[in-house]
Amino acid sequence: MLEGKVVLVTGAGGGIGRDFALAMAAAGAKVVVNDLGTSLKGEGASSAPAEQVVKQIRAAGGAALANADSVADWASANRIVQAALDSYGRLDAVVNNAGILRDRFFFNMSVEEWRAVIDVHLNGSFYVARAAAPHFKAQESGAYIHMTSTSGLVGNLGQANYAAAKLGIVGLSKSIALDMAKYRVRSNCIAPFAWSRMIGSIPTETPDQQARVAKLKSMETAKIAPLAVYLASDAARDVTGMIFAVRANQIFLMAQNRPLRSVHREGGWTPETLAWHAMPALRAHFYALERSQDVFSWDPF
Ligand SMILES: NC(=O)c1ccc[n+]([C@@H]2O[C@H](COP(=O)([O-])OP(=O)(O)OC[C@H]3O[C@@H](n4cnc5c(N)ncnc54)[C@H](O)[C@@H]3O)[C@@H](O)[C@H]2O)c1
Repeated sequence: MLEGKVVLVTGAGGGIGRDFALAMAAAGAKVVVNDLGTSLKGEGASSAPAEQVVKQIRAAGGAALANADSVADWASANRIVQAALDSYGRLDAVVNNAGILRDRFFFNMSVEEWRAVIDVHLNGSFYVARAAAPHFKAQESGAYIHMTSTSGLVGNLGQANYAAAKLGIVGLSKSIALDMAKYRVRSNCIAPFAWSRMIGSIPTETPDQQARVAKLKSMETAKIAPLAVYLASDAARDVTGMIFAVRANQIFLMAQNRPLRSVHREGGWTPETLAWHAMPALRAHFYALERSQDVFSWDPF
């Protein structure tokens, strides 16, 4: 489905991104495999993970090149996009997948932990997308795929930095879809559920924990890739501004915010009338303080 196309995947040295790169190449794309080769927390760097994935693609007869620049800096994000243009002369799809975690309860989260996560996820997604935008605009085609998370879409404990970044990415994607529709450029989000090092630190001491982790392991990283390949392809030419979730063999189209219910009072509202009239009327539609696992409460299949 991607014959003749060039696809850039960030954070493609491991986890979900590696399967994206392998699947894009198997579908015929030339792939820029970007990965800083850093730890889960974003400490250290190595070109080895990206090079390893490139080796794997070439061994299978595909075309790929490795890039170890960070997405979290405007100049180096431009180098990632430039690598595609220099080597392959074009760029057709960008997958913003690179990510790190610095989990901490909000009341203990440091400014450094906040910034590091916003820099890689939200700023990094903007930098790489923005660096590719002039080329997409000039060629009047292009596809963006951004990784979001139900930590932002629904909620999760101890991830204020990550949730804010991932929901920010949803706004970024929708804005790109709106701003670039006239150039036939598309932008969509995927919220994956997959067993990777990002969720691989769950303890497995008790039989209960072991059973839970066995189920989580059925959410293989490779299960996310078919949707990404499809969204990068011309078959998805009329799909833009959407948010999908993937959990093993399930694919969800996620809701987007719309007004749920409204109240109106002739002459306007006072704090008092809000308390005894507006809030009781709206309360039926309030949301429970749910986390991702409360909403996705059944086993993956
Ligand atoms: N695994 C899940 O269940 C899950 C759930 C929701 C969202 N996601 C999102 O999916 C994406 C992939 O996650 P994963 O689970 O495969 O994690 P992962 O840790 O296995 O992969 C992330 C990759 O990004 C790279 N990276 C980190 N900082 C970078 C930088 N500044 N520049 C370039 N590369 C960098 C890392 O080296 C790593 O190889 C992330 O955006 C993550 O937030 C994953």
